Amino acid sequence: MTEPDFGNVQPVDVLNLKSLEKRAEAVIGRGEFGYIVEAADDGYTKWRNMNAFKDVHMLPRVLQNVENPDQSTTFLGEKLSSPLLTAPIAGNSLAHPSGELGLAKGAKEAGIMMAQSTFASKTIAETAQVSAGAPYMFQLYMPKDWGYCQYLLDEARQANARAIILTADSTLGGYREMDIMNHYHLKGKIANLAGYNTGESGAGAGSLFKESMQKLNLGLIEKLANYAQLPIIIKGIQTPEDADAAIKAGAAGIYVSNHGGRQLDGAPGSIECLPAIAKVVDHRVPVIFDGGVQRGTHVLKALALGADLVGVGRPFSYGLALGGWQGVKSVADHLKMEIYIAMQLTGCQTIEDVKKMQCTTSFEI
Ligand code: FNR
Repeated sequence: MTEPDFGNVQPVDVLNLKSLEKRAEAVIGRGEFGYIVEAADDGYTKWRNMNAFKDVHMLPRVLQNVENPDQSTTFLGEKLSSPLLTAPIAGNSLAHPSGELGLAKGAKEAGIMMAQSTFASKTIAETAQVSAGAPYMFQLYMPKDWGYCQYLLDEARQANARAIILTADSTLGGYREMDIMNHYHLKGKIANLAGYNTGESGAGAGSLFKESMQKLNLGLIEKLANYAQLPIIIKGIQTPEDADAAIKAGAAGIYVSNHGGRQLDGAPGSIECLPAIAKVVDHRVPVIFDGGVQRGTHVLKALALGADLVGVGRPFSYGLALGGWQGVKSVADHLKMEIYIAMQLTGCQTIEDVKKMQCTTSFEI
């Protein structure tokens, strides 16, 4: 098997994750950068995602005899070096030519979980060549053609996906003005359409998905689980009611997310939704969280409020843009360093200790 082409790669010197956005803007095309950075409407929910972390306060313990904290954990039986996930992002070749190959290699080298989007710019099989042996999940946008859905699920199973993440918050795309101003559209860049005779070109992706995406319902969970024979995790859960209903309908995991503020603007910050959901889930299934994570302390706050795995979206895209797979690893390494410091300073030796940490919040739990 020939080694995939990872393009130009280099480690990225990371001061903090926030500072990567400006640096990435300088190396990504205007339309592509706009697509990654943008949010829906006025960007309130995206802003809230990041700022609501300030309303969570950790109560650090001292004299806990902590030395060299261990942030390794397991998720769905997979051993991870840190409770981190590269959140599923469409079209990673927008950031770097290696696209999902670079993301997969960076995640693998960092020992963290990767999730690949249905709308990826490399096929599942291409990505699997790189992610082989590493923790990997596939994110499904529900196509209206069940045959195409089966094809995606078959490919994901062959790629050794540990779970299927069904994204439920995107029954249509949020209103995102940057794409309009930049005349930018992702269509034509979706590799997973190439391997199946859908009767449509990449440009037809919208019509391939539109109808079925608008009709997502609880019954789908069992249908997908029965066919895929894999755990089904529901992404885009923002209320305890939906979390409970999804679990009762067979969901094997709950993914708390508002899509990085790209869908419904006006929703609360994702971290504000987490405690009430975790309470209702009550450890019946694992919980994934994402939205606005830029600091090690954000990861700790999410774990303390009920998450088992923490997704990071845009910062990994910026790392990929700046250094290919090595840039992805640099971002993960930096975040791990911040997590290490935060664990030591809160008196947490293990991730289990972090999950037991007391936090106060200004919002209702
Ligand atoms: C996304 N997200 C996303 N989610 C998903 O389920 N399928 C997808 O294809 C995409 N595509 C996508 C593209 C881009 C450019 C972004 C920024 C986001 C949402 C993603 O998985 C995650 O929920 C957010 O990115 C988390 O927020 P942060 O970490 O970017 O603040």
